[in-house]
Amino acid sequence: MSAFPQHFLWGAATAAYQVEGGHDVDGKGPSIWDVFAHQPGTTYQGTNGDVAVDHYHRFREDVALMAEQGLQSYRFSLSWPRLFPQGRGEINEAGVKFYSDLIDCLVENNIEPMITLYHWDLPQALQDEGGWENRATAEAFVDYARLCYARFGDRVKLWSTFNETVVFIGHGYITGSHPPSVRDPARAIQACHHVFVAHAAAVKAFRASQVAGTIGFVNVLQTHTPLTHSPADKQAAALADGIWTHWLYDPVLKGEYPAELLAKTQALWNVPQFATGDEALLKENICDFIGLNYYKRETVAANDRQTHLQANHSGERNSGHEFGFKDLFKFVRNPTGVYTDWDWEIYPQGLTEGILQIKARYGDIPLYITENGLGAKDPVIDGEVVDDPRIDYLKIHIDAIEAAMQQGADVRGYYPWSFIDLLSWLNGYQKQYGFVYVDHQNGLARKRKKSFFWYQALIASRGEKR
Ligand code: FCB
Repeated sequence: MSAFPQHFLWGAATAAYQVEGGHDVDGKGPSIWDVFAHQPGTTYQGTNGDVAVDHYHRFREDVALMAEQGLQSYRFSLSWPRLFPQGRGEINEAGVKFYSDLIDCLVENNIEPMITLYHWDLPQALQDEGGWENRATAEAFVDYARLCYARFGDRVKLWSTFNETVVFIGHGYITGSHPPSVRDPARAIQACHHVFVAHAAAVKAFRASQVAGTIGFVNVLQTHTPLTHSPADKQAAALADGIWTHWLYDPVLKGEYPAELLAKTQALWNVPQFATGDEALLKENICDFIGLNYYKRETVAANDRQTHLQANHSGERNSGHEFGFKDLFKFVRNPTGVYTDWDWEIYPQGLTEGILQIKARYGDIPLYITENGLGAKDPVIDGEVVDDPRIDYLKIHIDAIEAAMQQGADVRGYYPWSFIDLLSWLNGYQKQYGFVYVDHQNGLARKRKKSFFWYQALIASRGEKR
C-alpha cells in the first residue's frame, strides 16, 4: 500500500516566461527577462523567451496532452506585464482573457490550476523605478495580486505568491547572472525584505478577498552536508542552512527573521531596514502552505581548506562568498556523489531529510512538492524520446516523498518540473525536463516521451505503480 491518499494531487509545473512566448503580443509589456535576454552575452547562445514553446498560442493542445496524461493539477505562473504592461495602472484585458481561457480549459478537463503569481518576470517599467529595491514595487504587487484574485479566484483555489527567492534575489542581486545583474549583498537583503513584505500583504489581501482557497510561498529546498566532520565544515554547513532555509522560510512561516543571522546582517550592512508596521504585517500573515522545489543537496566545506576534489565543470561551485559571507564556505563536489550533466547531485534522501527538517522547524504546515526533476539531453532512439534516466530520477524521488509521509509529513501534491520541454533561464533548450518533447526543427511539434506514459500509469494507479 502506498502512503499517497486519494486526494493527493499528481501534477506538473511550468512558468510563464519559459513556455508562453508571445512576448509582445496582444498588449503585453516587456518584463525584465525580455530586456535582459535581448542583451548579448547574457544567456546560452542568446536564447530568449520571445517564442519559447509558444504555449500562448497552443495552450489548448497542451492542456489536451495534460488531460490525456491524467494530470490532476497544473502549476503555472502568470506574467505580470501581460496583465499590467506598465506594472500597475491600466489593465490589459487581452492578458486577462488569455489566463481566463487557460483556466477554463483546465477546469473543463478536471485539472486543478495552481497559480504562481511571481516566477521572476517583473515588469520592466517597475525595474526602471528600482524594482524590488523600491518598496513601491511591493505595493504594485499587491494590486496585481488583487486583480488576479478578483478575475480568477472563482475558479482557482491554489495560489502561491513567489517562486524561489534564493534564485531571483541571489542571482539578481549577488552573483549578477539574472536581471537586474547587481552584485551587492546589502542590496540583495533589502530587495528580499520587500519581497517578504509584498508576500505578507498579498496574503492579507487574499484573505480579505474571500477567495475560497489557500495561499502559500514556494522556496528552494536544499539540504547541506558538511564535507567532513571537522567543526569548521559543520559550521559552514550550518551557515548554509541558515541562509538557504532559515532566512528564506522563517519570514513567511514564523513571521520573523532568524535572530542570530539578522543581528549579523544588521551589524555588517545595516539591512534589512524595516518600515513601521513590517514586523506586525509579517507576523499576522503567515501563509497556508509551503511549496518545496527540490533538485539536489549541496556538500559544504569551510573556505580555509584546500580541496582536491574532481569536478566535471568546476570543483568549487556557488560559494558562501557570493552570498556575502566572505570566505566562510563553499560548495564542493561530494566524492561519493552521482551528478547530472549540469553538475547537480542526484540525492533523493535529501528530499526526505529536507521535508522532515521543514516539519521539525515549522510544525505541521501543509506541503506541496512544487518542483522536482531531471535536466538532461534526452536520447532519441528510432524517433522516440527514451528518457529512462528521468523516469528513474522521478521514481526515487517519489519514494523519498513517500518515506517522509510515512514519518508524518503532510505532503499534498507533487509537481514534477516540467510538464513540457521549455526554455531554461540561462541554458536555452538543451536542458530538457519535460514529459513532452518539443521539436524546434519541426514547427514546435509536441511529442510524448517515454516518461509521459510512465507518469500516466503512475497517476492512474494513484502512485502505486512506479
Ligand atoms: C528552478 C526554477 C525553474 C526551473 C528549474 C530547473 O530554479 O524555479 O523555473 O528553471 O529550476
